[in-house]
Amino acid sequence: MRSDADIAGPMTDPVPGPRTEVPGDDVSRETPPPLDDTSTGPAAPLAAQALGRAGQGLPRPEQTRIMVVANQKGGVGKTTTTVNLAASLALHGARVLVIDLDPQGNASTALGIDHHAEVPSIYDVLVDGKPLSDVVQPVQDVEGLFCAPATIDLAGAEIELVSLVARESRLQRAIKAYEQPLDYILIDCPPSLGLLTVNAMVAGAEVLIPIQCEYYALEGLGQLLRNVDLVRAHLNPDLRVSTILLTMYDGRTRLASQVAEEVRSHFGDEVLRTSIPRSVRISEAPSYGQTVLTYDPGSSGALSYLEAAREIAFRGVGMYYDAQQAHTGRHYQHSQQQNMSEGIQ
Ligand SMILES: Nc1ncnc2c1ncn2[C@@H]1O[C@H](COP(=O)(O)OP(=O)(O)OP(=O)(O)O)[C@@H](O)[C@H]1O
Ligand SMILES: [Mg+2]
Repeated sequence: MRSDADIAGPMTDPVPGPRTEVPGDDVSRETPPPLDDTSTGPAAPLAAQALGRAGQGLPRPEQTRIMVVANQKGGVGKTTTTVNLAASLALHGARVLVIDLDPQGNASTALGIDHHAEVPSIYDVLVDGKPLSDVVQPVQDVEGLFCAPATIDLAGAEIELVSLVARESRLQRAIKAYEQPLDYILIDCPPSLGLLTVNAMVAGAEVLIPIQCEYYALEGLGQLLRNVDLVRAHLNPDLRVSTILLTMYDGRTRLASQVAEEVRSHFGDEVLRTSIPRSVRISEAPSYGQTVLTYDPGSSGALSYLEAAREIAFRGVGMYYDAQQAHTGRHYQHSQQQNMSEGIQ
């Protein structure tokens, strides 16, 4: 676990060379994005610019930031957000661990990590008390990125955990005992609010909620927020919803902008300015065992996740994020967590 001073200072630039700002490269912030961003030409120049931007002196957290990516609604982009944000942060120079806490094992697949039944996995950590270091694997092609995979065994864990001692805090204990230095741990939760998600919320301090820009986007969110309140009250006083990310944003539809407006008016500063466009490249990447950052680094999807990662890094050190002037140093105020679930079903 990262805990000392060696993390201060800007992250290193993974791509040497000049860093040119791209005029109008704000693809990720609710400008109408191309729905199908399949590259027509070589993506290399754009990718180099994107990665050049990646290394622009991002602040590193003083302590490991543990982010729980949760929403009990299925298919809203939890896994996609977990793996692509993790890869973006790693490309920004951070050391990042993805914990796959979903029996579907989608995050493990997307990171190209073998997770057939015999592979040591997060199930062994939670149920048998195996050290996390025994199951963590490095992700090919992205330096500084690691994954604790999920196998199908995890499907039984919700039930097996019930009878175990300290059933809600088994992941927290495993993370505390993990000695490798890390800047971020991102936990991909299943689409439910059972014991696996509770374990993640006890282990982490921040909840990141991806919200799909669709009708019914806010439905069920009240239940999630109330669960966060319950965990905070009884098990983890540090827990808060730190980040909301709008996903699959289609700037051409009124519905998407209405949903975005509603989410922003309700949650205020917790909502990242960067939203993730609906992108064919993002949805194709997992079938190649890749994140969009390696699959098509110049695509709008890759650029938007890189931008979201920058925003998260700046907010984490209390700095207000501005796409053009991310270094202004204005303090970022967290809005009142207590009122979050008001008016939401
Ligand atoms: N920005 C995007 N553009 C296009 N497709 C996307 C985008 N984000 C996610 N998807 C696709 O939407 C589907 C659901 O995404 P994902 O698996 O990340 O959701 P999830 O919340 O993790 O789902 P589950 O609840 O089943 O775990 C996937 O097929 C994914 O490829
Ligand atoms: Mg998922």
